[in-house]
Amino acid sequence: MKTFPFKYHKPSEYLDLFNPKNMFNFLLEELNPVYSISKTRAKIISIHLETKETKTLVLRVNKKGFRFQAGQYVPVTVEINGKRVTRYYSISSMPSEVNLRITIKRQKQGLVSNFVHESLQLGDFVELGEAQGSFVLPKALPGKFLFVAGGSGITPVYSILNTLQNQNYTGSVKLLYFSRTKEEIIFYSDLNSLREKFPTLAVEFILTDEDSLGFRTGFFTREMLLELVPDFSERLTYLCGPGTLQESVKSIIPKEKLISENFQPFLKTSTKREAKQVEVTLTKSHKTLLLNGEKNLLEELEDNGIYPQSGCRMGICHTCACTKKSGVVTNLQEGSESESGEETIQLCLSRAEENLELDI
Ligand code: FES
Repeated sequence: MKTFPFKYHKPSEYLDLFNPKNMFNFLLEELNPVYSISKTRAKIISIHLETKETKTLVLRVNKKGFRFQAGQYVPVTVEINGKRVTRYYSISSMPSEVNLRITIKRQKQGLVSNFVHESLQLGDFVELGEAQGSFVLPKALPGKFLFVAGGSGITPVYSILNTLQNQNYTGSVKLLYFSRTKEEIIFYSDLNSLREKFPTLAVEFILTDEDSLGFRTGFFTREMLLELVPDFSERLTYLCGPGTLQESVKSIIPKEKLISENFQPFLKTSTKREAKQVEVTLTKSHKTLLLNGEKNLLEELEDNGIYPQSGCRMGICHTCACTKKSGVVTNLQEGSESESGEETIQLCLSRAEENLELDI
């Protein structure tokens, strides 16, 4: 990915070189991008196409100390047209494996997921942050689990299931995995192989958008749950998938028996509406922009060439949090309007309702 040693360094970055540690780091990185004493870098050593839209990157990490728990996600930073862009992706490998795997589904408008699918190649490097997330196994394992996954929500679940098998877990495990079509099932053959090694694992593939011989069809309902997992109330349930699936499961499984992760924002208010022009003043950068007020603030600022810090783009990581000095925004997740005074907002979840002042 890095084609010329000095291509990606802005002049201001060279000031840091007067710090001996940074100088050493810089020289190491220019020698080989995987060498760094302060950053976690990873080289792509293999790429697998899981489905037409989903790829797994196998990464060799430059730090032996990179740690994570099954079910966690990691910030992945890539450089696209000279700009560093970070997104959060679930890890699909087990912590005990030598190499790290991340499985990425292409999103229609996804800057990074499209870059991963179209441009990243074997031998390229990505930068990793620290693994995060509480979608992990408890210290004391219960006797029974239920996993409900939808679409790419299978990724952290896959890591957890492999970890349970690797630990010789003997309790009962059920997986209900919802996919739109047979072709979109991620890890189909891997999950089938896993259940051969894991006798107490039962996997049910459910298609929501097509009928296919040998597959169950339909959406998650109480009736379906009672039929497939009659003892669901005795199980600790893990849920990862889109908002509609989250809503259905949460209406049945009580909070105290449920651990969930949402990799698509569940928004009460539509992110798009008709243009309603607003003036947004960026107080730190001394800029005033005319935004359309159509989408969330993060996207609107990016459309105007301003790239605030961001990560997950779905309200999880708080990387995009900033101070709104004045003006009203709608919180798209809660569907509520803010006060007009100073407060912290998340740009990826906020839409401008009137002229704003942001401390960016
Ligand atoms: S980018 Fe993660 S919360 Fe907004």
